[in-house]
Amino acid sequence: MSGKNAGKAPVTSTSGPNHELSALACPRHVHEVDLFSGGAQEHWYEAYPLLHEAMPVVRLKGEGPTPDTDGFILTKHEDIARVVKDPERFPPRLHEAIAQIEQAQNSGKTLPGVNAMLASMVTLRPTHELYRSHRQELTDPWVGPGASRHTDMIQDCAHRLIDRFIGAPHIDFVQQFARPLPQMVMANMLGFPEDDIPQLAEWGNAQVAAFVYGKGHRNLLSQAESEAQFEKLEAFKAYVQAHVAAKRAQPQDDMISWLTQVHYEALDRPLTDLEVNGVVYAMIIGGLETTQYALEEAAQLICDHPGLWHTLKSQPTLIRNFVEESMRLRSPTQGLSTRLTAQDEVFQGVKVPKGSLLHLRFGAGNVDPDEWDCPFDLNLARKALTRHLVFSAGPRVCPGAGISRLEQNLAWAILLERLPGIRYAPNNTFEHQPGIMLGTLALHLDITGAD
Ligand code: HEM
Repeated sequence: MSGKNAGKAPVTSTSGPNHELSALACPRHVHEVDLFSGGAQEHWYEAYPLLHEAMPVVRLKGEGPTPDTDGFILTKHEDIARVVKDPERFPPRLHEAIAQIEQAQNSGKTLPGVNAMLASMVTLRPTHELYRSHRQELTDPWVGPGASRHTDMIQDCAHRLIDRFIGAPHIDFVQQFARPLPQMVMANMLGFPEDDIPQLAEWGNAQVAAFVYGKGHRNLLSQAESEAQFEKLEAFKAYVQAHVAAKRAQPQDDMISWLTQVHYEALDRPLTDLEVNGVVYAMIIGGLETTQYALEEAAQLICDHPGLWHTLKSQPTLIRNFVEESMRLRSPTQGLSTRLTAQDEVFQGVKVPKGSLLHLRFGAGNVDPDEWDCPFDLNLARKALTRHLVFSAGPRVCPGAGISRLEQNLAWAILLERLPGIRYAPNNTFEHQPGIMLGTLALHLDITGAD
């Protein structure tokens, strides 16, 4: 589709959003909505009210798990919450992949394109029960409820980043703070040297390639893109494997060492190297860009709301509410096509047949006017703030929500304490990263007394 803005040069702006960036026109009618083509990011939040009003369930013909099935975009909070809370009726699509790998393994074949993470899922979390144990025993102590153990480390990382730019009149908040913070936190938590971060970041990019460059709601990569991704990830696998072996022999105080030593009660045995490798993959995929974009979008909201910096500085207990509201308003993971229908269903009067693929549009559900009063207002006094679906909900809710929330809360407390304030610098384009995440590629800020 080409729109009225096609061919225009991006303009710089002192406030977002910047509709000139996208070849797609800003939709004015629901039939003009396109959530997945290049540049669609620039209009997502104009599209959601149109969808809520006129087409809360969107059928994507032939875009189900197989060519003869369909995909369906769900935009209502109640529908998405119903789906994620009921894994029997709406099983995760991953279960299909796991079954295929198991089948291939049983018949002595190896499937092309199966990375360590998928392979470890087969043995570590093929069922709902084992998924729960995986979370409770292996990740909760590090990135879930147990994440508070990292408080000092996270504070130290945030201070060191600020030390590098304190006194400078302008920064690129993405390059100088929002991106490196989660990278440093993950490296320290897992037990990788900080010096390896540039290389780890490259592998991290390869891991999330489908979410950035993948096409349509299923984030499909071409054969060539998939092959390039797997080639890069082979080197990552070897790198992690070397660390796992070294830490198994000589454990340190980090997550990988712990995973090599833990007795996994659910299977009554220690983890294999490949299984540890799989857990590490999941941490890297989930833990880097998501929190980066949450920090970056929150900084924009501060710039957009004069007085907010002072409110948060004088009432630090409100930082927690700010973090939740900013993620609700600008959900880093806008949507995922991760659930199937195990039987015929009806959403908002639309029939959805058994075997369909559901695209859960968390970003839209989080601004659904039937769930939130004045959904586009940043309201720090909102009741039950955490009922948003930023991290999904139910038994498969994001396992890293604990560490991400902690990082964001500590980061804002320290930024508010150490900086005089932030404002948009004049040279922003507000261009968003392609793909399914919401976040800008850069955010130029003036470091100056806040309004
Ligand atoms: C603002 C930051 C984050 C957001 C918005 C976010 C969002 C999400 C969402 C929406 C899901 C899908 C859950 C479902 O299928 O119901 C998910 C899954 C996941 N997240 Fe996060 N996440 C964030 C941070 C993190 C961090 C820091 C980690 C790791 C330390 C992490 C690790 C994971 C993993 C491993 C899964 C897959 C779980 C599975 O196997 O089903 N995430 N996340």
